[in-house]
This record gives sequence, structure tokens and C-alpha cells, in this order.
Amino acid sequence: MSIFDQTIKRRHTNSLKWDAMEKVYGLQDASDILPMWVADMDFAAPAAVTKALQQHAAHTVFGYSFIGEETLQSIVDWQNTRHDWQIQKDAILFCSGVVAALANCIVALTEPGDKILISSPVYPPFFTIPKSNAREVVSCPFVEKDGTFTYDFEAFEQALAQNVKAYILCNPHNPGGYVWDEATLKEIIRLCAKHDVMIISDEIHADLMLNGEQHIPLAKIAGDEMDRIITCMAPTKTFNLAGIQVSYMIVTDKKKRLQLEAVNMASGQGLLNAFAPVALHAAYTEGSPWLEELLSYISVNINYVKTELEKIPGIRVMKPQSTYLIWIDYRQLALEEKEVMKRLLEIGKLGLEPGTKYGEEGRGFLRMNVACSFETVQDGVERFKKAFAK
Ligand SMILES: Cc1ncc(COP(=O)(O)O)c(C=O)c1O
Repeated sequence: MSIFDQTIKRRHTNSLKWDAMEKVYGLQDASDILPMWVADMDFAAPAAVTKALQQHAAHTVFGYSFIGEETLQSIVDWQNTRHDWQIQKDAILFCSGVVAALANCIVALTEPGDKILISSPVYPPFFTIPKSNAREVVSCPFVEKDGTFTYDFEAFEQALAQNVKAYILCNPHNPGGYVWDEATLKEIIRLCAKHDVMIISDEIHADLMLNGEQHIPLAKIAGDEMDRIITCMAPTKTFNLAGIQVSYMIVTDKKKRLQLEAVNMASGQGLLNAFAPVALHAAYTEGSPWLEELLSYISVNINYVKTELEKIPGIRVMKPQSTYLIWIDYRQLALEEKEVMKRLLEIGKLGLEPGTKYGEEGRGFLRMNVACSFETVQDGVERFKKAFAK
């Protein structure tokens, strides 16, 4: 029996995943819907993290705090052991979340009206954050090759040549869980350098490598182009700490660091809540065994979902190389997205993400989150099958 077999009741805890579905799906009552949508896990965080947080709470004084050397060192050590990436402590800047970090980068390092390139389908804030900060989003779709999405570098370069200021990379990719290989990452760097485009590399899913895959931090292989890259990372996806709100950027270029710090100062941000560095430090120093067990558990869930759902004629599952998110292709069913969501919610009582949330290229796909007990995954699969029974 695995620690991840335990089912923890999350309803009525103000959980976004479990308690906000009425609003998300426009329902009167969603109490019978099984949520497999937003990217957080139904698992308890590593015991070492809970213990460190409890110890901090037991202190009972919650005054202003700062981020200590040991927290910075834990990030340096994590990058070194996990990704074989040697970083300097003074390149690290903190933020409440990766989405907030993306927004800070856009505001600090680009101007209103600037063009920001993204590759779609992709995590929705890649569209919304630049747009809501009055930047123009240029979207270059991925192309499908051998059953997976990949870059069309000719189209990518044409897009870059439209006077683009920054490219937001999702490495590894959400949705789809693709782990970009070195050749792909090097080509992204080469083309962005050729067109003098800055790269904001969202690597929040970097630690969730499945079946022996290896994450390559973009900046690690960038050589002389390292300074055009801002890497955004966090322990929150890895260790299920999204509600703790902590992330960090690795910024080797001092000028960019100062610009980012100035934007933080201007909006009165910059401090983390006192529990955030505690959780990060405990996760990075003591969380590895938990993570290894998690990754094996997730792999089993993914294999099960792929095998079972592909028994339904017209359903194909893109097996992720990383993350606990599964991209399900239903295009052969020739059903409208609205109809699919209706069936899932009304017949299956299952809450998944509609593909167009990730851009028009996501039409015909669904995203399923399998970071839950195997028993829950089985329940989810049965609900999915029921929705498509006819
Ligand atoms: C690619 C990507 N970036 C950022 C986030 C969210 O980061 P945060 O909660 O730190 O803002 C997610 C969450 O799913 C994500 O998939």
C-alpha cells in the first residue's frame, strides 16, 4: 500500500478544485461531480513539509520575516542535484507564484503594446497575463507529428520576426506533458537570439519527470545567451503546495534583476508569507523520497487511464512524459466541445478541462488530472466511459 492510496476528503475546505465547480462549470450544484481538472493533487504534502509548517505555527509569533541563507542554499542544491544545473544564490528572486512571476516579467521587461510570442495550445495565463497588461499576444501553434505536438520552426521564426519582444516557453509543456529535448531547446534559443527576443521559461513542472525522462533547464544549455532567459520555478506543483504560494525566478542578467526588483518595489510586493520559505526549504531538503514515490504512482495512474480510455472507439490518449496531466484526443468522435462537456458533467458527473481553454488548437481535446488515488482514477475512468457510452 502506498501513502498515495489514502483518500483525503477535500470537499468543504475552500478547495478551488473541489468546492468551486459550481462557478467553474456554471452548475447549481456540483456536489456529485468528481473534479479532475485544475492542477493540484489530492495527496498530502510530504510529512517533512507538514512538520516544518507545524513547528513554525507552534512558534505562535508571525511577524515579518526574510528569506534566509538556508532557503537560498536549498534551491541551489535542488537545482544541482535534480537538474545538474549550477546556479548562483544572487540570481534568485522570489515571488508568490509563477503566474505572478510571469506578470512581473511582462511588466518589468516589456512595454505596453509590445508583442509577446507563445506556442499554443498552452497554459491559459500565457494568453491572459500579457493581454491584461496591454501587450499583444502572437500565438504560433504547435504542429502534430507522430501523434504528439511539436514546434514548426519555420512558422516560429516567422512569428519571431514580427518584432516580438519576448517568448514565453512552457518547459515541460502544459498541457501535453512534453519534455522538450536539447535539440528543440537549442533551436528555440538560437532563433530567439537571432531575433533578439527575451525568453521567459516557465519550468514549474520541471521536477515531475516520468519514466526516467530528464528535464533540461533552458538557461543551463544557453551558453552566451543565458542572460536573455528568465527561468520561473517553484516547489508548488512538485510537492502539492500551490496554496502556500511560493515561486522563484532565476535571472542571471543583473540589469533584468534590478528591473524586476523595481517593479516589485513599485507595487509594494517582494516579501513572501512566513510559511512559504519554511515549506520550500523542507520540501527541497527532505522531499526527494516522497517525490520518487509520487512519480511511480502517477505513472501507474497514467498507464491505466491510457489503456482504459483507448478502449472507447475514437478516444486517443497522448501519454505525457512529465506532469500528472493527461491530454485526451476525442477529435475522431466528431462531437462539439459543448456536447462533450455536457455529457461529462451531466452523464458522467466528471469535471475535466475543455481543450479550448488552452487556445483554439486545443479544440477536440480534454485535460484530465490524475494526481489522486488509484481508486479515484478508476472512478474517473468509469465516469468517462459512462459519458461516452452512447
Ligand atoms: C505552466 C504553469 N505555470 C504556472 C502555473 C501556476 O503557478 P502558480 O500557482 O505558482 O502561479 C501552472 C499551474 O498549473 C502551470 O501549469
